[in-house]
Amino acid sequence: MKDYIIHDEWNIIEEGFVPELNRVSESIFSLGNGRMGQRANFEEQYSGDSLQGNYIAGVYYPDKTRVGWWKNGYPEYFAKVLNASNWIGINIWIDGIALDLAKAKVSDFKRVLNMKEGYLERSFTATLENGNQVEVKSTRFCSIVDDQTGAIEYSIKAKNFSAPIKIEPFIDFDVVNEDSNYDEKFWNALDQSASNGRAWVKASTKKTNFVVCSAMSYSIIHQGKELTLNSELVEKEKYASNIIESVIKEGETLTVYKYAANISSQNHDENKLVEVAEDEISKISTKGFANLKKEQAEAWKSKWTEADIVIKGDVAAQQGIRFNIFQLYQTYTGEDPRLNIGPKGFTGEKYGGSTYWDTEAYCLPFYMSTADSHVARNLLVYRYNHLQKAIENAEKLGFTNGAALYPMVTMNGEECHNEWEITFEEIHRNGAIAYAIYDYARYTGDQAYLAEYGLEVLIGISRFWAQRVNWSEAKQKYVMLGVTGPNEYENNVNNNWYTNYIASWTMKYTLDALDYVKVNHSSDYDRVLNKVNFDLDSETGKWNDVIDKMYFPYDEEKEVYLQQDGFLDKVLMPVDELDGEDRPINQNWSWDRILRSCFIKQADVLQGLYFFEDDFSIDEIKRNFEFYEPMTVHESSLSPCVHSILASKLGMEEKAYEMYLRTARLDLDDYNNDTEDGCHTTSMAGTWMAVIKGFGGMVIKDGKLHLNPFLPSKWEGYSFKINFRDIVLKVDITKDNVEITNESENDLSLILKGEDTLISGKGKKELAT
Ligand code: BGC
Repeated sequence: MKDYIIHDEWNIIEEGFVPELNRVSESIFSLGNGRMGQRANFEEQYSGDSLQGNYIAGVYYPDKTRVGWWKNGYPEYFAKVLNASNWIGINIWIDGIALDLAKAKVSDFKRVLNMKEGYLERSFTATLENGNQVEVKSTRFCSIVDDQTGAIEYSIKAKNFSAPIKIEPFIDFDVVNEDSNYDEKFWNALDQSASNGRAWVKASTKKTNFVVCSAMSYSIIHQGKELTLNSELVEKEKYASNIIESVIKEGETLTVYKYAANISSQNHDENKLVEVAEDEISKISTKGFANLKKEQAEAWKSKWTEADIVIKGDVAAQQGIRFNIFQLYQTYTGEDPRLNIGPKGFTGEKYGGSTYWDTEAYCLPFYMSTADSHVARNLLVYRYNHLQKAIENAEKLGFTNGAALYPMVTMNGEECHNEWEITFEEIHRNGAIAYAIYDYARYTGDQAYLAEYGLEVLIGISRFWAQRVNWSEAKQKYVMLGVTGPNEYENNVNNNWYTNYIASWTMKYTLDALDYVKVNHSSDYDRVLNKVNFDLDSETGKWNDVIDKMYFPYDEEKEVYLQQDGFLDKVLMPVDELDGEDRPINQNWSWDRILRSCFIKQADVLQGLYFFEDDFSIDEIKRNFEFYEPMTVHESSLSPCVHSILASKLGMEEKAYEMYLRTARLDLDDYNNDTEDGCHTTSMAGTWMAVIKGFGGMVIKDGKLHLNPFLPSKWEGYSFKINFRDIVLKVDITKDNVEITNESENDLSLILKGEDTLISGKGKKELAT
């Protein structure tokens, strides 16, 4: 745990330069716009420790799998979003000495991530080896208005000297991924060009052949006037720049404005990339930095208008939640159904920027409630578009007849995870994809989605479950053998309750969806059934049989669902009884010891109770919560939020808050000592859920919005906004009352603290707490 970020409601602030913290800060201060993103690397050269990271969404490399012991069915590769061109770079030499914070004496260092307006600022004073002192201030952003572009303002002031200065704005594609399996470079050089004031580099990814052109233009202002010096043009393989030589006098300031565009063949004709990049550069440089920054601030303002959560009386909590919302929007904007949400967003290499079940199980609710419904819909369409690959993935494992197994990790629909206990066994992920369809349809009311896309996916997944179970003569039930549940601290178990439950639920939901589409969208019904070659009687007959006879491990005495068949054979003890040195167990224990222990990585039975809470009584949820939570080590950042939501539901307010705190500032305070790898984007969405679904008590039942808010005792008040079926509601909770404002024209009837309540368009409702 670290505590170096200065608390502030709208800004993330670091003061003082601590090289040992640089990688952590590079993650925290990351920028992104859904289409591209980058770690907070420095513009000027830096020879100290740093993880260079510039990413372009969807531009990935299939890095050949590296395993000790190959197993049939393993994916050939692990997909990673690549470190792409360094487009922020501006090398500076003063009197022949490079400005490099690893070599200079640094003072007054400050980094500020302005979340309100969406930019990163850095300032410092550097004393070079020869005593020359410069004051530097840089501001940059990835534009959310024009998501292929970014801009930088970089000014240098000579504090105590007059000397020659050399400035080199550049584009560099000669980059590496630290996580490369075979120390390979992933980009092939194609072409580069430098002309006065401009440069571009074109490169293509090995194997996947994405072509990207990164281009830049710049202008230099010296004492208020644009410098028109000729520059030295540099063109090398994968590199292009201009070197400008001038003189800076004591007290003078020189400012570089650098404009950049990253244009990829994903979105443009491969032969026109340079042309498009040049046009983009012209467009943004004509607008100028100040206007672009203003546009950026306005665009962020409208995002905050939709999604802000205000917490009164707790600045640390306020900063934490805004940081989470900010990063979620930097990662995914929902405009392109080919894109998704990596568990680390654009903030590092870990998890390869690929898609996990995290999206459906954790991230979807945030986008559903804070943005127009097409944003969440695009997340679902992403999986619809991968259905054929999911079918092929299941075929590789021996399944037939259109059974679909969605991958644990993917970029293009193909599985690329390669630990057998996860790749082959963590099949519960398939259920989360079905659940997301249900969650989306119940929240948005967009049932037509089922007809157009959803049903086909549901049939594929249900077919998988129907083949994955087997009949147990001994139990006279259907069982599911050899699985790994969400708790990855148990592998190859039989009858993971959560997996069995979500499997059976999916089949039920698919049957309901079939009925619904048949009645309401008959032509789609015929189209889909034809397309998938559906044998109505035999397939639905099998599903009904599995639903009726599925085995769910349960202990009559304790009256709890069992995580898996053998759970009660374990030595059961609470986490509290472990010694401090044991934790986290994944760093201190052998894997073998972890697997035999009762300790749970993340919500498993409780994940099911959270998803399907309507199927269980409060007493049941409580009993299971009290049984499992004490044995849970929460060593996945996906865990505390589910516990927080359930604790809120159970009225365990302190527990709910304790669990909330574990993720609210997870990255800002580097709780798990791993923020240097990147930020925990999934848990950011989880934190949002802990506030809205937990403290705010938001659920949807029978098409109605329910709110049941309480105020955590550490806070003076909080407010949030949700967009429910195109009605924007502002919910304001203070010590004395709950006030709900309907910001839309249409009336909304909801259940507020258990009471039927009508809030007319533009109206308000107050209720004493
Ligand atoms: C969790 C998985 C999750 C993955 C990516 C793992 O540690 O156990 O549930 O999908 O991280 O966030």
